[in-house]
Amino acid sequence: MKNIEISNLSKRYRNGVLALDHISFSVGSGVFGLLGHNGAGKSTLMKALVTVLKPSAGTIRVCGYDTAKQGGEVRRRIGYLPQELAMYPSLSVFDFVKYMAELKGVHDKNAVCAALEQVEMLELSKQKIGQLSGGMKRRVGIAQALVGDPQVLVVDEPTTGLDPEERVRFRGVLSRFAKDGKTVLLSTHIVEDVYQTCEELAVLRKGQLFYAGTSAALMERVDGKIKLVRLEREEELVNLQKQTVVLSTAYESHGLLARIMDENEVFPLIEPVSATLEDAYVYCMGGKTHA
Ligand SMILES: Nc1ncnc2c1ncn2[C@@H]1O[C@H](COP(=O)(O)OP(=O)(O)OP(=O)(O)O)[C@@H](O)[C@H]1O
Ligand SMILES: [Mg+2]
Repeated sequence: MKNIEISNLSKRYRNGVLALDHISFSVGSGVFGLLGHNGAGKSTLMKALVTVLKPSAGTIRVCGYDTAKQGGEVRRRIGYLPQELAMYPSLSVFDFVKYMAELKGVHDKNAVCAALEQVEMLELSKQKIGQLSGGMKRRVGIAQALVGDPQVLVVDEPTTGLDPEERVRFRGVLSRFAKDGKTVLLSTHIVEDVYQTCEELAVLRKGQLFYAGTSAALMERVDGKIKLVRLEREEELVNLQKQTVVLSTAYESHGLLARIMDENEVFPLIEPVSATLEDAYVYCMGGKTHA
C-alpha cells in the first residue's frame, strides 16, 4: 500500500469545467512533485485529497483510508498548506499556529513549538504575522500543516514568490520531513524545485495526467535530442518553430540562441547538449508558447 492512491479521479465543477479527467497514480514515501501550468488541476486534486472538495468520480486513499468514506481518518493523517492561506496579521506566529492546531483538535503547546522548530520559526514565535516577510509567512504556513505530525503533507505552490535563498531553505524543510515513510506532495510551476527535491513527479495538463514516474525517466524521453541553434535574426525563430519544438530562447549580442528538441533530426550535424528536467517538461507541454 502506498501513502496516496488515486484511482480514476474526475472532478467537474458546477459551471461545467472538467478540472480533473480520470486521473490515476500513486505516491510512495518521499517528496513527490505535481507539475502543471495554470488551471491544469493541481489545486483541485489537492483539495480532493484533503477532503475539502468532493470528487465527481473515482477514489482516493490516503494511508489506506478512503477520502469519501473515512474523511476523519484521512484528515488526522494529513497536513495541508493551501495555495492561499488566510492569515491573521495581528496574531503572533505562535498564536496563529496554536489556533490552527486547535481547529485540528490538537491542544498541545509542545506540538505547536515542535512544528515551529521544524521550520526554524521558533525564535520568531512572538512576532506578529503582519510583520513577517513572504518567505517567513510561508514557513508559518508549513508549520500549521505540520502540527500533529501528519503522515502526508500536501503543499500547494509553497515556493511561488520566494527568493532563491528561501526556496533552498524551504526545500530543506520538505526533504527533512519526508523521511521515515512520510510523504510530501508538492505542487509547483517551478521545475527546478521538483528537480532538486523529488525523485518522482506527475505532470497534469488541462485536467489530464500527462506523466507519472521518475524525473530520470521523463528526461530520458528527450535525452540526446536537445540542441542549440544560433539564429541571426528574430524572424528566423518563426521558421524554426515550424520545423521543430523550441524549448527556450536566449538573446545574445548577435542574434539569439534557441534550445530545441530535434526529434526528427532536422539538424543532424549539431551536437546534442545534456537534457534537463526543464527541457523534458517544456517539451511535454508542447514547447515554448511565446518568443
Ligand atoms: N471553484 C471552482 N469553480 C469552477 N471552476 C473552478 C473552480 N476552481 C477551479 N476551477 C477551474 O478548474 C480548473 C483547474 O483549476 P485549479 O485551480 O485546480 O488549477 P491549478 O493547476 O491549481 O492552477 P494554478 O497553477 O493557477 O494554481 C481551471 O479551469 C479553473 O478555472
Ligand atoms: Mg493552484
